[in-house]
Order: sequence, then C-alpha cells, then structure tokens
Amino acid sequence: MDPKYFRLLKYMLLSIGLCKICAAQNDITVSVFTVTSRSVTVRWSRYPGANSYRVTAIKKNSNERPVFMTFGGNIVMGSVTSLQPNTAYIMRVEAMDYHTVLSMAETEGLTAPEVPRIIQAYSKQSDSITVEFTDVTGASEYILRAQTLDGQFFREINVSSSPSTIIGLEPYTEYSLNVLSANRGGRSQPSLPVVVRTVVEAMDMNTTSPSNNTIFVSWEPVEHAVLYSLCIIREGSDIRVKVNTTDTNYTFSNLEPGTRYSIKGNAWDSNGNMGDEQTVYQITRPLSPDGVRLYLTPVRTMGMTVSWADVHGADMYIARTSTELNCSSDVENYCVITALSCSQNLTVTVTAENDGGPSNPSDPEDFITFPCPPDSIWVEEPEAGTCSLMWTAVDFADYYIAYVKRDDGSEERCNTTQTVCDFSCLCGFTFFPTVFAYNQAGPSLPGPVLNYTTIPCCPEDVFVSLVSTETLEIRWSAVRGAELYETTAADQTDPIIQCNDTAPVCALSDLTCNRRYSVVVRPCSEIRGCNNTCRPHMQETAPCAPEIVNITQLGLSHVRIQWTAANMAANYTVSVVGPMDSQQCHSSGTSCDITNLPCGTTYEVSAYATTAAGRSLPSYSQTLETEPCCPGNLTVEQVTQAMSQVTWTPGTGARSYITSLTSSKGHAKCHTMSTQCIMGCITCGTNYTVTLEAISKTGHKRECNYHGFSSKPCCPSSVKLYRMANNTLRVYWRSSGNLHSHVADLYGTSSNYTCSPPMGSNYCDVSEIICGEVYTVVVAPLAQDSSKITFCPRRMYSVSCSGNTLGMVIYRGKRSVD
Ligand SMILES: *[C@@H]1O[C@H](CO)[C@@H](O)[C@H](O)[C@H]1NC(C)=O
Ligand SMILES: *[C@@H]1O[C@H](CO)[C@@H](O)[C@H](O)[C@H]1NC(C)=O
Ligand SMILES: *[C@@H]1O[C@H](CO)[C@@H](O)[C@H](O)[C@H]1NC(C)=O
Ligand SMILES: *[C@@H]1O[C@H](CO)[C@@H](O)[C@H](O)[C@H]1NC(C)=O
Ligand SMILES: *[C@@H]1O[C@H](CO)[C@@H](O)[C@H](O)[C@H]1NC(C)=O
Ligand SMILES: *[C@@H]1O[C@H](CO)[C@@H](O)[C@H](O)[C@H]1NC(C)=O
Ligand SMILES: *[C@@H]1O[C@H](CO)[C@@H](O)[C@H](O)[C@H]1NC(C)=O
Ligand SMILES: *[C@@H]1O[C@H](CO)[C@@H](O)[C@H](O)[C@H]1NC(C)=O
Ligand SMILES: *[C@@H]1O[C@H](CO)[C@@H](O)[C@H](O)[C@H]1NC(C)=O
Ligand SMILES: *[C@@H]1O[C@H](CO)[C@@H](O)[C@H](O)[C@H]1NC(C)=O
Ligand SMILES: *[C@@H]1O[C@H](CO)[C@@H](O)[C@H](O)[C@H]1NC(C)=O
Ligand SMILES: *[C@@H]1O[C@H](CO)[C@@H](O)[C@H](O)[C@H]1NC(C)=O
Repeated sequence: MDPKYFRLLKYMLLSIGLCKICAAQNDITVSVFTVTSRSVTVRWSRYPGANSYRVTAIKKNSNERPVFMTFGGNIVMGSVTSLQPNTAYIMRVEAMDYHTVLSMAETEGLTAPEVPRIIQAYSKQSDSITVEFTDVTGASEYILRAQTLDGQFFREINVSSSPSTIIGLEPYTEYSLNVLSANRGGRSQPSLPVVVRTVVEAMDMNTTSPSNNTIFVSWEPVEHAVLYSLCIIREGSDIRVKVNTTDTNYTFSNLEPGTRYSIKGNAWDSNGNMGDEQTVYQITRPLSPDGVRLYLTPVRTMGMTVSWADVHGADMYIARTSTELNCSSDVENYCVITALSCSQNLTVTVTAENDGGPSNPSDPEDFITFPCPPDSIWVEEPEAGTCSLMWTAVDFADYYIAYVKRDDGSEERCNTTQTVCDFSCLCGFTFFPTVFAYNQAGPSLPGPVLNYTTIPCCPEDVFVSLVSTETLEIRWSAVRGAELYETTAADQTDPIIQCNDTAPVCALSDLTCNRRYSVVVRPCSEIRGCNNTCRPHMQETAPCAPEIVNITQLGLSHVRIQWTAANMAANYTVSVVGPMDSQQCHSSGTSCDITNLPCGTTYEVSAYATTAAGRSLPSYSQTLETEPCCPGNLTVEQVTQAMSQVTWTPGTGARSYITSLTSSKGHAKCHTMSTQCIMGCITCGTNYTVTLEAISKTGHKRECNYHGFSSKPCCPSSVKLYRMANNTLRVYWRSSGNLHSHVADLYGTSSNYTCSPPMGSNYCDVSEIICGEVYTVVVAPLAQDSSKITFCPRRMYSVSCSGNTLGMVIYRGKRSVD
C-alpha cells in the first residue's frame, strides 16, 4: 500500500475518536466515519433493545427538509446521501424500538467539496506530469493521484492549486491521473481519470574536443527515443545551431579553438514528443602555441627557460623535452625546465591545454645543453718535463679549457678544440689538472680533478766528502717531492753500496780504499719512484794504508824502510819518531831511506799514503832501534901487575858492555852492566888492544875500538938485602924482561932511603943505615915516562945491629898493598 494513503487512513480514525468525546453522557454515541461531496457516513454505538436506527442529516442554519435514512438493529454504521457539497449538517442518530425513540445522539458533519475536473495533463519531463484542473468551492487543498494502469504504482500528493506537477515518475510510462478536492470535513471522490505518458529521458551526453575546431558529442541510446536533437551555442553569443540525428553521436566542426560552447540535447519519442533537455558545456582544444623560445637560465642550475606566445582559451601550458623532462605554467607564458642533463641535443615542444584537452605540440625547437665534463682525464709524460693532458671527447663541446694547477699555486691554462693540451711539468711538483668543456650554452660542471706528480728533481748541490778513509758523507739540500733518497756508490768492480734515507744526508761506509766511486743521489717519491737520470759525482776514497815489511839498517845512521800497499798511485810518507827527534822520508815507490839517525835511539816507524783524495790511515808501527852509542872516555888503569881496571862513560842505548883486552900473549874479557870492569891476567909489559861492545837491551850490538893499552913493566923478583960494612945496605933484585931503570925505596920508622942504580944494574946501595929497625922495601922499575910503578910488592926487613956485619937481612913478611 502507498504510505501516503495509509497515513490518510490513520488521520481519519483519529478524528473519529475526538467526536466520541463530544457525545459523552448520551446513551448512544455517534461519530462521522467519512464524508463525500454528497454523503456523510456516521457510526454509532449499539443501544440495547433497539430494533432499528434512524440517521437524519439536518442542514445547519437552514429550513431545508432534513434527509434521513433508517437502518436495521444490527447495523452500527450508515450513510445519508443526496446532500449538498461543502455543507455543514447536524447528524442525528435515534435508536428506535419501532416508533419509539429509545435514545438519540447528534454530531456535526461537513460534506467534502465538489469533485474537480481535469482540464489537461501533460508530461514535459520524463519524471513528471503536470495536471491542470478546475477549482472547486470550499476546497482547502487538492489531492493529485497518479497510478500506473496495472496498479503497480500509486501516488498521491497534496497540492494547493492548479496546475500542479507530480514527480518521481518513470520516463515513457502511462499513468492514470485523478484529482480530489478536500476540506475540513474530508475528501471528495476522485475526478475522472486522464491517462498521460511521460516523455523520454534526455540523452546522457559525453563531449570531447578531438581537435582545436571540433566537438564530438556521443551518448547511449535512450529507450523509446527515435530522434535526437542537439543545439550548440558559443558562449557569449546567441547564435545557435540545431541538428537532428538518429545516430548516437555527432561531431560539430568549424568551431573556434579554445572557446566554450554549451550543447543542449533532447530525445524524441515515436509520438513526436520532445523528451527531457540536457545541457553540457565543452571547450574546444586550444591552438598549439607559437613563437616558442628557449633560453639558458641565468643561474647555473642546469636549467632552461621555455617561453611562448599566449594562446586563446588555454589555461595550462606544458613544455616537454625529447628527454622526458617537462615544465608547465598556467599563468606565465614561460616555465623553467631544470635538472637538464649535460651534452644533450634536446627537442622542445610546448602544448597548450584546457579542459578540452591538449593542443597539438608546437613546432619543435632544438636546444643543446651545456656540455658534460670529460669522463676521464689523464696525463702522459713522453719526455720528462713535457706533459700532455688528455681527455675523452665530450658530445656537443665546442672547445675545452684545461686548467693545470701546480701545488705551489701557479696555474697554466689552455684553450683548445682538441682533446689534448701540453703543459710543462717540472720535476718534483704535483699538478692538478681539470678540464671544462664549453659550448654556446656555457661551460660544463667541473670534471674530475686529476693529481699528477712528477718524479722529483735531482738535488743540485750534492756535496760528497771523505769523512774517513773509507767513508763518504754525502750531503745535499732536500728537493721538493722527494720522500726518500736512494744513494749509491759504485765502481767498476765492487758491488753497489746503497743507502736509503729520508734525510738529505747519507754516509756510505765500508768502501774500498783507493777506489774511484761514482756516487749518485736519486730522489724517490712513493707515487712515481726514483729519478734515475741524476748525474753521478765521482769521489775517490783515501789510499789504502801501507804495510811496513822491512826496516833494514844500511849503515850506522842509515835505514831503509820498505812497504807494500794496494794503491794504484800514491805518494808515501814514512815517519820515524823518536823521543827527541823525528824524521820523514817520502817516496812514490815502495821504499825510502832515512839517514843521520843518532845511535842508541828507539824510533816508531810508520808510513802513510797520500793521493789527491787524501791521506790513508797510518800503517802499523814498527820499532826501529839504532845501534847503541859507543861509550866515551874509556880508560884502562893498571891496578896491580896483573890486574887492570877499565872504566867508561855509559853509551846511549847500551845496557851491557863486553870489554876485551887482547894481546899476542892472551886476552881478558869482561861482561858487565856497570861502566867499569876489573880485568885480570894482564901480563906486565905487554901491548893490548882495547875493544868494547855496547849491547842494547834488545841485543843490538855495537863494536867500539879504543886506543891500545900497554901494561906497565914487570916488578923485579927475588929482592934481597945485604948488610954491608959501614952501615951500608945493598939491595939486590932480579930484573925481568926488558931493560928498565929501577928505584929501591926503604921506609923505616925514623928515616927513609932511596937508591937508583944506572940502567942495566940489578942492585944499589944505601949507606948509613940505622940498624935495629924494620924497613919496608919496595923495588920498582921506572916506566918509560920515568914514573915509578906503584904496585910492586913491599917487603919488611929487620936490620939488627949485632951479629954478622955482613949478611942477609931477615925477611919479616909481606905486607898488603894499599
Ligand atoms: C564518456 O566517454 C567516456 C569515454 O568514452 C566514458 O568512459 C564515459 O563513461 C562516458 N560518460 C558518459 C556519461 O557516457
Ligand atoms: C528536428 O525534429 C523536430 C521534431 O520532429 C522538429 O520539430 C524540428 O524542426 C527538427 N529540426 C531540424 C533542424 O530539423
Ligand atoms: C557514431 O554513430 C554511428 C552510427 O550510430 C556509428 O556507426 C559510429 O561508429 C559512431 N561513431 C563513434 C565515434 O562512436
Ligand atoms: C588545429 O587542428 C587541426 C586539426 O587537428 C590541425 O591540423 C591544425 O594544425 C591545428 N592548428 C593549430 C594552430 O593548432
Ligand atoms: C640536434 O637534433 C636535431 C634533430 O634531431 C638535428 O637536426 C640537429 O642537427 C642536432 N644538432 C646537433 C648539433 O647535432
Ligand atoms: C677559447 O677559445 C674560443 C675559440 O676557440 C673562444 O671563443 C673563447 O673565448 C676562448 N676562451 C678563453 C677563455 O680564452
Ligand atoms: C692523488 O691521488 C692519489 C690516488 O689517486 C691519492 O692517494 C692522493 O691522496 C692524491 N693526492 C692529493 C694531493 O690529492
Ligand atoms: C730528474 O731530475 C732532473 C734534474 O733535476 C730533471 O731534469 C729530470 O727531468 C728528472 N727526471 C725525470 C724522469 O723527471
Ligand atoms: C732501498 O734499499 C733497498 C736495498 O737496500 C733496495 O732494494 C730498494 O730498492 C731501495 N729503495 C727503496 C725506495 O726502498
Ligand atoms: C829485508 O831486506 C833485506 C835487505 O834488503 C833482505 O835481505 C830481506 O830479505 C828483507 N826481508 C824481507 C822480509 O823482505
Ligand atoms: C806525488 O808527489 C809528487 C811531488 O809532490 C806529485 O807530483 C805527484 O802528483 C804525487 N802523486 C800522487 C799520486 O799524489
Ligand atoms: C871525558 O872526560 C872528560 C874529562 O874528565 C870530560 O870532560 C868529558 O865530558 C868526558 N866525556 C864523556 C863522553 O863522558
């Protein structure tokens, strides 16, 4: 059931309940059940004992005859018809027992207005029908009712006046329409029905602008439509173009680009009824932009500004590159494409857009972006000091500028269209080359910065010195870029001696003496290695030390020193150094002589060699001892007849001496460390030769010769005394050997006597001798110089006064000689 209808019924039942309250206290109650324009139906309560009920309608305020109807006793509801529309009546119900009124009740009832009449009904819209109907007196409202013929659809709406439209209908559907009037009392009967079909729907148009001067409209076929009408109007004008078509699409052409059009469309049904109207709006696509210009953005952000001339009807522009980059603008007539890649040949087109879609792209413009930096750069140094910077070619580069910065800050620049650039690369520097490529769009971003280090330079001031005979010290001033110095010393035969150091000084020791070494200092860097072209510096080592092999004493003060040495050519100096003096001799050979060496001296002999390079170490020392000196002042003194004392002054360098006295009759010898010697076994009256050997502590001997020595004449033997007359004493002796003069001395206590015979005599006499006394008697020969020999023996004789006047004197004994 229609919900509206249901609501109406509920309302009616509620009004009945209200009337019941009015009729309270009566025995029976009555209420209006429903009314029409011509009748009032009431309802009452059953009254016991009533066999009929009489219902009377009395027109209010009128003298018209009331109208009544009678109903059986079982009836509780009944209508009174033939009343006047829109008129108030008193409705009286009487419960009857035949003709007796048992009970009575009254209520008021108003008849509905007159039934209206539909003048016309039509459908303008597919979902509605408009109904025109007559006005009726007393109607406070009207009810428009639509229902399908099959009764599936039922709808009522309350309207206030004619015409009125009922909506919510289905398109192209037949509806039966009625109108009812209503007042306070109730509704009238429905009017006579009118059947109306709703029109077809409008087509749901879909528009596009396929090009700058066309609009294509399409739609789904509309049910029951047989023809479609379209009407296009350019916005801002009132020129309309109408077309009819049975197709479901239509293309409007020769339109203005970038212009908004409104398109109205409706469908027609087979009865020639125009259906709903729908309006859509469509703008045509804009023309493609013109005058496209490309500029490099002033800031170096790899950007490009694209500008164009404005196009009518466009609300957005998009610039696109062939590399899928784009930018867009809706207000300005330019936009900026950023993040361009370097070295590209771009094609740029601009498209204008509006709601209709994009325009055709503009004529393409070429743009070459600024170049990429070279992919890789490298340095070649075909010849020391001349470098070539090379790089890979860059697309779309017109020329290149290479900067070669040196680590001391200086910079070289080179502008070339080639991919190579020469620069001078002095040894010992690090270079930082970088290359920028250029084209009309500008320079590339900085490319890789290479670092190229040249081999260090050779030190200029290498100073080689011989610090000791076999050690070279090499000094130089440090050179730029050298981390290590490799110093070598080499000659033709020896293995290379090497030292590696970071300091600019090096000592090469353990070299061979008397060699010519070639010394090279090579600076090395870790990256580039060593400079192998450094000039050698020649340095000779000191000569080798000679070795003294022989010292030969050629004469008393003359020695020859011989040596050996492994030197090619050298001058040698031999030094002979004593405690008091020293001497030198020189030679380029292997020996030299030293003369005038004093006797008895010990010398240290050493030699050294000299060459232009310097001086060798001295040889090992050897000791040279000259022969001891001969002692001087040698004297031989005869102490007794057979004994002599030899004394001498010490000879320099001598420690012991051997003295010899030699004669044809024999010789005496004495070995002593003192400077005197007693020699026995001397024969008196003999000529001796005297020699002395001075011997040094090492056994060096020197034979020294002196004047000969003659021993004194021999003492006479067999000395005898005889007493003679006249107190004379005669002294006899036996002379030995050669003829000598003799002297006899007698020493008594009170007097002394002397006698001396002529040469050749062997006695002499002493007169007036005192007897009774003891005399010491010495007979001594006289030496050639007439001196008296002192060491002849003394004898004591006692001369008595009694006895024989003549006779031998008694020998008292020998006395020691002092
Ligand atoms: C309009 O056309 C587009 C593409 O042809 C389609 O996807 C869309 O559904 C259509 N709209 C209507 C209302 O027909
Ligand atoms: C289109 O058809 C309708 C209905 O048949 C007609 O009224 C109208 O004149 C036609 N319009 C054109 C431009 O043919
Ligand atoms: C337009 O309609 C015709 C006829 O209905 C159809 O043949 C044609 O394919 C349609 N064109 C488009 C673009 O839909
Ligand atoms: C307008 O559209 C037509 C058809 O697509 C095209 O040939 C023409 O180049 C366009 N004109 C401009 C200025 O876009
Ligand atoms: C850039 O490309 C366009 C089209 O591909 C071509 O005509 C032009 O010669 C190119 N420019 C250069 C410098 O290669
Ligand atoms: C480099 O040479 C090109 C032509 O080869 C010239 O146009 C440019 O100005 C030069 N640049 C410099 C910095 O010298
Ligand atoms: C030079 O390059 C090497 C390796 O390519 C690097 O180890 C060194 O640090 C660089 N030197 C400088 C000064 O940049
Ligand atoms: C080695 O040093 C010398 C002199 O300092 C220089 O002339 C030469 O170029 C260097 N050698 C190399 C290979 O660089
Ligand atoms: C250093 O010395 C060693 C041997 O003494 C040698 O092999 C090496 O090549 C030298 N140079 C460097 C740079 O180490
Ligand atoms: C030393 O010289 C002497 C004399 O010239 C010679 O006789 C001797 O053989 C030499 N000794 C050596 C070891 O040469
Ligand atoms: C040795 O000395 C001489 C004279 O002084 C000199 O002419 C010569 O050159 C020297 N020889 C050497 C090898 O020194
Ligand atoms: C030798 O004796 C004399 C005189 O007594 C003395 O003057 C002299 O110095 C002595 N000579 C030596 C070498 O002792």
